[in-house]
Amino acid sequence: MSLFLVTKIKPLTVITIMLCVQIVFCQQQVQDSSKYIEQKVDSIVKLMTLDEKIGQMNQYVEFWKSTDPIPTEGEAKKKYNQVKRGLIGAVLNVKGATEVRKLQELAVYESRLGIPLLFGADVIHGYQTQFPIPLAEASSWDLSVIEKSARIAAIEASAAGLNWTFAPMVDISRDARWGRVMEGAGEDPHLGSAIANARVKGFQGDNLSFNNTIAACAKHFAGYGFAEAGRDYNTVDVGTSTLYNVILPPFKSAVDQNVQTFMTSYNILNGIPTTGDATLLRQILKQKWQFRGFVVSDWGSGEQMVDHGFAKNKAQAAELSANAGLDMDMESYIFINHLKQAVKNNSVRIEVVNEAVRRILRVKYKLGLFDDPFQYCDNDREKTMIGHEDHEKFALELAKKSIVLLKNKQNILPIDKKQKKIALIGPLADDKDNPLGNWRAQAKKNSAVSVLEGLRKYTNDLNFQKGVDFVSGTPEFGDKLDINMTNKTGFREAIQLAKNSDIVIMVLGEHALQSGESRSRAKLGLPGLQQQLLEAIFEVNTNIVLVLMNGRPLTLTWADEHVPAILEAWHLGSQSGNAIAQVLFGDHNPGGKLTMTFPRSVGQIPIYYNHYNTGRPGPLETVLYSRYTDESKEPLYPFGHGLSYTSFAYSDLKIDSTDNDNIKVSVTVKNIGEMGGEEITQVYICDISASVTRPVKELKGFSKFFYEPNESRKLEFIITDKELGFYNNLGKFVVEPGEFEIMVGTSSQKFLSEKFIKKK
Ligand code: BGC
Repeated sequence: MSLFLVTKIKPLTVITIMLCVQIVFCQQQVQDSSKYIEQKVDSIVKLMTLDEKIGQMNQYVEFWKSTDPIPTEGEAKKKYNQVKRGLIGAVLNVKGATEVRKLQELAVYESRLGIPLLFGADVIHGYQTQFPIPLAEASSWDLSVIEKSARIAAIEASAAGLNWTFAPMVDISRDARWGRVMEGAGEDPHLGSAIANARVKGFQGDNLSFNNTIAACAKHFAGYGFAEAGRDYNTVDVGTSTLYNVILPPFKSAVDQNVQTFMTSYNILNGIPTTGDATLLRQILKQKWQFRGFVVSDWGSGEQMVDHGFAKNKAQAAELSANAGLDMDMESYIFINHLKQAVKNNSVRIEVVNEAVRRILRVKYKLGLFDDPFQYCDNDREKTMIGHEDHEKFALELAKKSIVLLKNKQNILPIDKKQKKIALIGPLADDKDNPLGNWRAQAKKNSAVSVLEGLRKYTNDLNFQKGVDFVSGTPEFGDKLDINMTNKTGFREAIQLAKNSDIVIMVLGEHALQSGESRSRAKLGLPGLQQQLLEAIFEVNTNIVLVLMNGRPLTLTWADEHVPAILEAWHLGSQSGNAIAQVLFGDHNPGGKLTMTFPRSVGQIPIYYNHYNTGRPGPLETVLYSRYTDESKEPLYPFGHGLSYTSFAYSDLKIDSTDNDNIKVSVTVKNIGEMGGEEITQVYICDISASVTRPVKELKGFSKFFYEPNESRKLEFIITDKELGFYNNLGKFVVEPGEFEIMVGTSSQKFLSEKFIKKK
């Protein structure tokens, strides 16, 4: 779908012509360079022994620190020597220009062919400067800032010697119990695809051979976000329609943006571990989508095929995964230990190995590693670029755009700057660490601006009480969280403070390590004693603004019923407290919108806006319709929801379907409040009857503009077959004529709608 802003007409024709010339020129360059690269790759492959080839398909985690003596025994010595013998293609988690240089020198100067290593790490939402967690960033619906956040992450990571990030995670998920929803873009494939594209573009930049761009990795291919019961690594069983229409599109979008690598996932998908799934890796990714980069396994997912009951032993796991199209094994040792034998047995053809090696070398070439293997090892750049003040400035902008105002009864927000006596209560209010979120790469501990620090810039009439600690101690990654369910000693002082204050800001939510990998939760309320604290404070002062810090949708039904204002602040990164303070005091008007539905109860999960209708949607006079007997079936906050300090009016929805291939949808949006603000306009469609049932609505376009008070804009969206079609149960994209409904509005539940007929 394309969007034209009719009131601000641009010289479209000129732009189009210029673009064409540029594209022709670029394509020529691309063809030349890819021909050159292919020749180079071929010439190297010809020189390689089978051991060296298999070595390229092998990735280890950091095994030696350059400050330590050269290892003389054990695994470290073995791996050190393997680098010298050209038996490792990539490492992960080795970072820092000096560290990387040491290992790269070993590979380049001491191995027979001098093939440089890849250095990968999980740079998920920033390297040292932390941006909001990906789910939060997604709430901005702002592709240019999302791209920029990945760009800056790449600038910092590349300055630390890295040339490959295991991001973006493009898994769609409808289950807030799954801890990894924090790493993705939410539940929608259209928005998820656009964000996947933006993130890949940001990491890889315009030219992958520059020293400040890194290879991106679309992960986890595929279906990982559909783990049964939201339990990480669990079984995934989905039909073709969900696979093709929901799960795969963001991956395809990453391929379209030329993503260099893919990572398989830990789950089985319809009975087959994805690391050994030839349909996924060969047929769909490499053949149908023409992906030219390489596929890496997830950590140990190769050998886990044995636990899955798919391979009888590691040797067979090596054989199955190589044949299925896995190019690089991360930390399973299945290729390095078993692939040679498989080639000798002819159970894996040498062509399979050659192809994998070609793919890996191609990426190394594109990164410029063969021209200068040390281009990422510049200590000066490392010193100046990592944590650069411009990066912090941008982190603040992005954090503000990621905040979602969930509720604001009687406009209690923004807080009047002359407000007397503010109480700040909650375990996360003076926290400088948890706002950095999970998957925080090299963020410095306790480096985030706390809410307390942010608010102090606005007022001194502010008193703070923690109220309660909801976890004991400060857990490090990997530690089990010990949730405090008994110690209420801080309640009394917090209640006293609330009693004597005019307004109470409560900062509650999740610890940074409560979401992320293997952080599934069966209960989605406020952890520990926080709910009790909230209710106790409410008893003495109802004038509460609840600021939430969390990595996933929570069940906030009590809060929604009682607390007048709720601000979803996620884990916002380095500038968290400043962003929250600016929003609370109205220096920034919040404009973010949810990209994941907030349930009322865990029992509603999976709950998502683009569901199918049932044959008995109800309500009916009898009880026999699709519902819960003990809970509404509606979400607490729907997809696309997010308030502003101003209001927007929608009018004049018109559909012009004269041109059957380019259906024009126009609508007028007006800021009818007193404050300027951003509005994200959302366009949904419903194919009313089709050969395969279609969801009740599906996002197909959006726009985001800033509107001054009283300003109105006429927006026009063009809908083509791309938006109207879908994948049928044979995985074929079809466009079926008939009646469609178009819905345009401010959320997936508040919109204007019109129908039209799509002709043949
Ligand atoms: C995660 C991946 C990650 C990898 C390397 C795995 O456990 O699932 O997302 O990239 O570890 O750290």
